[in-house]
Amino acid sequence: MKPQNKAQKSQQRDVKTPKISSKTSLLHVGIDLGTSRSAIASSNGSREVMASLVGWPKDSVSAKVLGGQTLVGDAVLKNRLALNTCFPLKEGNLAFTRLSGSEQDLSRQAGVQLLAALRNACNPRPDQAVCAVIGAPAEATRENKQAIVDLANEAGIEGVMVVSEPFAVAYALDALENAIVIDIGAGTIDLCRMAGSLPGLEDQVTVFRAGNYVDQRLAELVREAHPEVQFTSNMIKMAKERFSSVIDTEKRAVVTFPIAGRPTPVDITDQIRSAVEELVPWITEAIQSLVASFDPEFQHLIRNRIIVSGGGSQVFGLQESLEQGLESLGGGRVLIVDDPVYAGAQGALKLAQEMPTEYWTRMRG
Ligand SMILES: Nc1ncnc2c1ncn2[C@@H]1O[C@H](COP(=O)(O)OP(=O)(O)OP(=O)(O)O)[C@@H](O)[C@H]1O
Ligand SMILES: [Mg+2]
Repeated sequence: MKPQNKAQKSQQRDVKTPKISSKTSLLHVGIDLGTSRSAIASSNGSREVMASLVGWPKDSVSAKVLGGQTLVGDAVLKNRLALNTCFPLKEGNLAFTRLSGSEQDLSRQAGVQLLAALRNACNPRPDQAVCAVIGAPAEATRENKQAIVDLANEAGIEGVMVVSEPFAVAYALDALENAIVIDIGAGTIDLCRMAGSLPGLEDQVTVFRAGNYVDQRLAELVREAHPEVQFTSNMIKMAKERFSSVIDTEKRAVVTFPIAGRPTPVDITDQIRSAVEELVPWITEAIQSLVASFDPEFQHLIRNRIIVSGGGSQVFGLQESLEQGLESLGGGRVLIVDDPVYAGAQGALKLAQEMPTEYWTRMRG
């Protein structure tokens, strides 16, 4: 199944993107558009999280098996072998903006499909115009805000406002002043300084090493220590998510990976810890750079309110490890959010609901 050509696409845009004014009510949604995972929360109470992954059947046989449809989200992981797959975001940005030709079309179409799947997960009524605040990696919001808006419009989301992910998290927690919010994602770690107004470029730092980098390092370390073991990047990621820790615990990370086709227990505790720990100095240095360039009178306030979110915040012992890392840089207090999966989407939803209705109704698809 190939994505549609340009004529079909523009036709779809006409059909799917009526003007907000032609609908009688608004459905507010908040979207956390991530490299590996995206979440949506809606004012009708529904919420959903899915892998940021789109797949098309590889051939006529797989089209028959899968019903000829485009798959989005976790179903793509399950049917990976029968699909051509595409991650619409890469390294903190919409992948299509760095591609050309048919690859670009495919990647762009994958972005539209992902946003459409998120929208549909909220079951908007036909009379409702969907108005979304989209939290995206800081890099994407800096370079490609308009591209995100265009893709969302094509996906049938009529009103769109784009913010950076850590800002959405700050909004969820009412941490709008004297705080540093950190989002540890798959492609990037985004830090944002909150000083009581909309953060500017000088308030944000992006580290281009995050969960995917840890996976890559872990794969290298496991290969070095156990060259005979067979694994895929997905197996490595699952092992990391199950056992990730930056402190000494009794618990051993023993995974069952095949060796010459035979399932074999392998202890990868040390490799996981080394790979995850590599991120800590990157994060503490980025925190320090935001503190050092802040008004000296208020530096101690932001240093003592560091809020960490994103999938990577779930590493066991991260709070202690970051605080320890900050000791030699002047100290700091770190708090890990309770709901890292939905914090960004909830903050974006809150922002969508608090925007004046005229803001949304002024927008045209
Ligand atoms: N328990 C865990 N321990 C360590 N890492 C984890 C854990 N759970 C998830 N992760 C990692 O968090 C990353 C995904 O986090 P998140 O969903 O916030 O990223 P994203 O929003 O898709 O990425 P980005 O913000 O870079 O676009 C992945 O690398 C994943 O492996
Ligand atoms: Mg994210």
